[in-house]
Amino acid sequence: MDNQVFPNDDFILTPDTVFPEDKHIVTPEKPIIEFRGVSKTYQTGTHALKDVNIQIHPGEFVFVVGASGAGKSTFMKLIMREEKANTGDVLVNGYNLTKMPRKQIPMLRRTMGIVFQDFRLIPTMDVFDNVAFAMHVVGEKPNVIRREVAKALSQVGLGHKARSKPAELSGGEQQRVGLARALINKPKLLIADEPTGNVDPNMSYEIVEMLSRINQQGTTVLMVTHEHNLVRDFHHRVIMLEGGTIVADNAEGTI
Ligand SMILES: Nc1ncnc2c1ncn2[C@@H]1O[C@H](COP(=O)(O)OP(=O)(O)OP(=O)(O)O)[C@@H](O)[C@H]1O
Ligand SMILES: [Mg+2]
Repeated sequence: MDNQVFPNDDFILTPDTVFPEDKHIVTPEKPIIEFRGVSKTYQTGTHALKDVNIQIHPGEFVFVVGASGAGKSTFMKLIMREEKANTGDVLVNGYNLTKMPRKQIPMLRRTMGIVFQDFRLIPTMDVFDNVAFAMHVVGEKPNVIRREVAKALSQVGLGHKARSKPAELSGGEQQRVGLARALINKPKLLIADEPTGNVDPNMSYEIVEMLSRINQQGTTVLMVTHEHNLVRDFHHRVIMLEGGTIVADNAEGTI
């Protein structure tokens, strides 16, 4: 049990116990994400993150901002364990990712929803199956899948597009499918690296509104964005990276 950061049993994650309905809000004093002296240097020698220390608590909505190359995607990739820190500890959902064996990564990913800038839908599957797939993977029963997928699609306003293929949808619609897919397994944590990067400005607002509603229901949301108007208008905590360092962390949603 070396990888267990928090001794509390609530944090021992298995596919069955991760998201019991009444446990999506955990005690606020325990961060859901914590970086302790984290540095990441790529093999090329680029120092993408330098001694980053940060805590994010359950239920927070956090924007991550900063210029191109500041280290935002690297920060997110460390949280998903797509990349590994060279030094320091990355603690997510009760796990120490720096020490986590590779075989536990799928279990970690099941505790989070991930939304991609380029949607990453499966082009040969229709909208319904793209969302359902994430539930098949965790072994849900077909009747549960049918009910939950229908609910998720209607939540993102796409109930009528269930049988469309991704190529038949607008960028904003595709991203809403991506959102439904990320949320279908009721993750405690939703991470999104520029989810509005490929949709028009109005749809950007709608997507952040949806993310804010999801956040109000208890999901912690972490979102990278370049759109300052979103940061200005939605009043969430803002973490700013510059040259691999956190240069601002503002609870009031201003840069
Ligand atoms: N796989 C990689 N190998 C080597 N260097 C990388 C790799 N990924 C990112 N970098 C470098 O690390 C630094 C941080 O990159 P990162 O992708 O985290 O920036 P970002 O803030 O997400 O930028 P953008 O806004 O352009 O997406 C940059 O200098 C980048 O060139
Ligand atoms: Mg990036």
